[in-house]
Amino acid sequence: MSAKAGRIDAESVDAEDIVEDFFSGVVLAGLLATCLLFLFLLRKYIQWGGDCPTDNRIDGKTVIITGGNSGIGRATATELSKRGARVILACRDMKKGDAVARAIRKKTMNPNVFCMRLDLSSLHSVKEFADEFCYNEPQLHVLINNAAYMGPKLTTSDHIEKNFGVNYLGHFYLTKLLVEKLHKNAPSRIINVISDSYQSGKLDFNDLAMHESYGIYRAYARSKMALAILTLELHRRYYSEVIWTFAVHPGAVNTDLLRNWPGMTGNFLRVMSRILFKTPEQGCQTIVYCAVADKVRDHAGKLFINHQAVNYVKRVRDWDMARRLWNVSLHLIGCDDEIEPEQVEEAIHGADTAKQE
Ligand SMILES: NC(=O)c1ccc[n+]([C@@H]2O[C@H](COP(=O)([O-])OP(=O)(O)OC[C@H]3O[C@@H](n4cnc5c(N)ncnc54)[C@H](OP(=O)(O)O)[C@@H]3O)[C@@H](O)[C@H]2O)c1
Repeated sequence: MSAKAGRIDAESVDAEDIVEDFFSGVVLAGLLATCLLFLFLLRKYIQWGGDCPTDNRIDGKTVIITGGNSGIGRATATELSKRGARVILACRDMKKGDAVARAIRKKTMNPNVFCMRLDLSSLHSVKEFADEFCYNEPQLHVLINNAAYMGPKLTTSDHIEKNFGVNYLGHFYLTKLLVEKLHKNAPSRIINVISDSYQSGKLDFNDLAMHESYGIYRAYARSKMALAILTLELHRRYYSEVIWTFAVHPGAVNTDLLRNWPGMTGNFLRVMSRILFKTPEQGCQTIVYCAVADKVRDHAGKLFINHQAVNYVKRVRDWDMARRLWNVSLHLIGCDDEIEPEQVEEAIHGADTAKQE
C-alpha cells in the first residue's frame, strides 16, 4: 500500500470519529435539553395556582396561625397582616416567634402582630395557650391549624405518636378550646392545612401508635387524613353556629417541613423541593383565600386546592370512622363525659392503642 493511500485511510477514520463524536454530542445535548424542558414544565405544573383572587381586607379581625414562625405559616401571617388582621403567631419557640412577629410588623407596617407560646406536642401547653388567649384577647375570627411535624418515630409529652399528636390531636384540642370564642364572633372560620397525602392515610384504631407499621410518609399521611375527617366533622357540628370550616392543600412548597427526614431520601427530597416546589408565598395563597374570601360559605366543609373547592376521596366520608375518631380524641384529651355512654368502651380501647408504653 502506498504512503498516500495510507494517509487517505487515516484521514477517513478521523472523519468518521469526528462524525461519531458530533452525533454523540447532539444526542447528549438533546437528552439534556429534554431533561431541562421536562424539569421546567414539571416546575411550572407544580407551581401553577396563582395569587389569591380577592383583595379583601380583614381589618381588625383576629387570626391565630399555629406554626406561624416559618414556611407557609409565616407567609400566611405576612399576607393577612398586610390585609389588616390582628395576627397571633402560635409558636413553640418564643425567641423565633418574637423575631418573626417583629419582622412581619416592620415589613407590613401593621403593629398588631404578636407571638404566643404553643407547643402542640403537649396537651398541657395547648390548654395554657387557649386560657391565655381567651383571657387576653376579646375576639377570634379565624383559626388556622397549620403547624406540622414530619420525621422519624417520636412521641409527644403525652406519649402519643408525634405526627398524630401534633398535626391532629393538638389541633383537635386547640379548636375545641377556642370554638366558643369563634362562635361569639361568628361568622368565623377554621382552616385546617392538610396535604394531598391524606388520600393514602389509613386510620387503624387497633394500632394508633403505629407500633407495627411506622413510616415517615405513612404517619404524616395518616395525621392529615385524621385532620381531613376532623374538617368534615367540625363542619357538621358547627356550621349551624356560623363557623365555617375548610381544609386546604397548599401544594408542594419549599419549606423546612422535610428537615427531619433522614438519609439519602431526605437529601434528595430537599434538593427537589428547592428546585421544583412553590415558594411559601405561592403556597399560602389558598389559605389566605379561605380566610378572607366572601363567597365561600356554600363551600364550607370542603377541601380547597388552588382556590377551588374539590371533593375529598370517598374514604374520608365515613361517618362511623369520624364518630370513632372524635370519641377517641375526646378520651385522649380527658373529656369522657362528652362521649355517649355506650361508646366509651370503644373510645378507651382506641385511645389506649394510641399510646406508646
Ligand atoms: N411544604 C409542603 O410541601 C406542604 C405540602 C402540603 C401540606 N403542607 C402543610 O403545610 C403546613 C405548614 O408546613 P410548612 O411546609 O410551612 O413546614 P414548616 O416550615 O416546617 O412549618 C411547620 C411549622 O410547624 C411548627 N411546629 C412543629 N411542631 C410544632 C409543635 N409541636 N408545636 C407548635 N408548632 C410546631 C414549626 O415550628 P418550629 O419552627 O419551631 O419547628 C413550624 O413553624 C403543614 O401543616 C404541612 O403539613 C406542606
